[in-house]
Amino acid sequence: MNFDENLQIKSFANYKKAYRESVENPEKFWDDVANHFLWKEKWKNTLSWDFKKPEVKWFEGGKLNITENCLDRHLETQPNKDAIIWEPNDPNEESRHITYKQLYLKVCQFANVLKNNGIEKGDRVCIYMPMIPELTVAMLACARIGAIHSIVFAGFSSEAIASRINDAECKMLITANNYYRGRKSIELKDICDEALKNTPSIETVIVYRRTVNPTPMKEGRDKFWFDELQKAYNDNEAEVMDAEDPLFILYTSGSTGKPKGMVHTSGGYLIGTAFTFQNVFQPKKDDIYWCSADIGWITGHSYIVYGPLASGATTVMFEGVPSYPDYNRFWEIIEKYKITQFYTAPTAIRALAKQPIAHVEKHDLSSLKVLGSVGEPINEEAWHWFNDNIGKGNCPIVDTWWQTETGSIMISPLAGVTATRPTFATLPLPGVQPALMDENGKEIEFNNQQAEGRLAIKAPWPAIARTVWGDHERYKNTYFSAYENKYFTGDAAYRDASGNYRITGRVDDVVIVSGHNLGTAPIENAINEHEKIAESAIVGYPHEVKGKSLYAFVILNNDEDASEKLKEEIRKQVAKVIGAIAKPEKIQFVPELPKTRSGKIMRRILRKIAANQTEDLGDISTLENDDIVKKIIDKAILD
Ligand code: WT7
Repeated sequence: MNFDENLQIKSFANYKKAYRESVENPEKFWDDVANHFLWKEKWKNTLSWDFKKPEVKWFEGGKLNITENCLDRHLETQPNKDAIIWEPNDPNEESRHITYKQLYLKVCQFANVLKNNGIEKGDRVCIYMPMIPELTVAMLACARIGAIHSIVFAGFSSEAIASRINDAECKMLITANNYYRGRKSIELKDICDEALKNTPSIETVIVYRRTVNPTPMKEGRDKFWFDELQKAYNDNEAEVMDAEDPLFILYTSGSTGKPKGMVHTSGGYLIGTAFTFQNVFQPKKDDIYWCSADIGWITGHSYIVYGPLASGATTVMFEGVPSYPDYNRFWEIIEKYKITQFYTAPTAIRALAKQPIAHVEKHDLSSLKVLGSVGEPINEEAWHWFNDNIGKGNCPIVDTWWQTETGSIMISPLAGVTATRPTFATLPLPGVQPALMDENGKEIEFNNQQAEGRLAIKAPWPAIARTVWGDHERYKNTYFSAYENKYFTGDAAYRDASGNYRITGRVDDVVIVSGHNLGTAPIENAINEHEKIAESAIVGYPHEVKGKSLYAFVILNNDEDASEKLKEEIRKQVAKVIGAIAKPEKIQFVPELPKTRSGKIMRRILRKIAANQTEDLGDISTLENDDIVKKIIDKAILD
């Protein structure tokens, strides 16, 4: 056996052994892992797959409910252990401790609310909520009755919600009236009402009253969470789900204007998130684990909710932001709850590192054992700052590389087991077979030499997304057509002579700003909708805190319209269509965009201009209009 009763691999020798076995005989390996969980009926076939179709099935014939693994299973052994500790935005408001037993009852009761309101297995439910325990209750209640949740990050605009609701034809929307994020009051219900003008599939809206602010309600459609609870019992028999039944949809941006609804399933996702949570973070029985992400992103789905709860851990949920009431907040939370594992993003680390170090020194961070990073490449400086000042040199940093599409962590050290190396995600987890691909689409085999290429994966792992909702062709084209028989990640990577991976960044039209994955196409589409604009191109450029920031090159219908006011209008337009996170920081009006003879915008050149690296523009001979390059450079915004 390579792992203990908690599935944890405890030595590097055992990691090597487990890894080898997971590649040589994946069925046997994942059978052993899956046997640790609660199944209503055992699976018949561990894995069948064909990346050409593409089709992946794990634990076929197996029956389970993921919430029984996250809740019921712990009722006998640890009913009174905190499942969730919730820290509110306002430090003067009381925090909440919710035990496994209490969470179980809340989920059962809300599952009955869903049923009372006509939600059935297979129906889609959109959730648009702040970081409060009820968000977790709502998602688990969906999972309990087999409804498919589609969570939309509470920073998205009404248009973004509407397009996601319509894509999945959600029957219900669950939201809150209003909440505070830092000092900002956010009127969620108003944003929803705007979205609901264009969402014919929605029959019911359940509104959680987070604040006492007045809440506009529409007769017959809108219902208060608490009123509905009064009508619901708190016992609920979990729906029997097939391992391959969809559990949730989560949208991620892509290379066209339309977001992709990645579909994750019940069985494989449970096994993948729980196994990786246990191994990457190595939690012990009384640990207090905190992931500072938002549940609206995959990190929150997998490593605030499903992975930790399936492992019986205590997971901390924080409603606020690192800067409110001041930059002490994260360190206060770590001290207050004696956090043992702290999982955050490079952009947060960089923002915190810019603050006076006294903020950190004022707090006792000695409970910390493991630090984690996710979302984008972590730069050397941020890595060392995190290691020296927060971990005091004693806490392994797990730099976890993965994606919305992968569902679970793919490449990462196992805390205390794998030797870390600054800026390296290091080695693949058991069951993950990465491949580096060269420019000709050939795999660069590992031969104890360093190499660089595009990152692909050669075989399926349990938590891989199975399709794009309603568009399997797009799933195939995006992930399985770049290389034959391989999943393409969209990332480039460097591999050192010991086989450690460092992810160097996206090679497609996705820019990661403050850890948020933003497709450039949807932002360009939003800008182009403005009546004064003919065309635009968005690229990312290096930014000290955000990692990357957005630079828009914009062609006007009429050059005389160029003004600061119009730039503000453009930003507003983007905030309206997508959300404030997608607003371009720099906007340059240009007479033309550099294009190839076939009419494709040469983003490579725009990226160089935005990064102020114009001394090496590379080959521009294939440009239709090479004289434009100099004109753009002359007026580039470089501060
Ligand atoms: C993209 C996926 C999955 C967590 C949140 C982001 C980048 C993610 C790392 C890392 C370097 C990373 C990649 C990836 N990324 N983690 N540790 N080191 N890059 O999920 O929004 O689907 O974005 O984030 O470019 O492809 P996502």
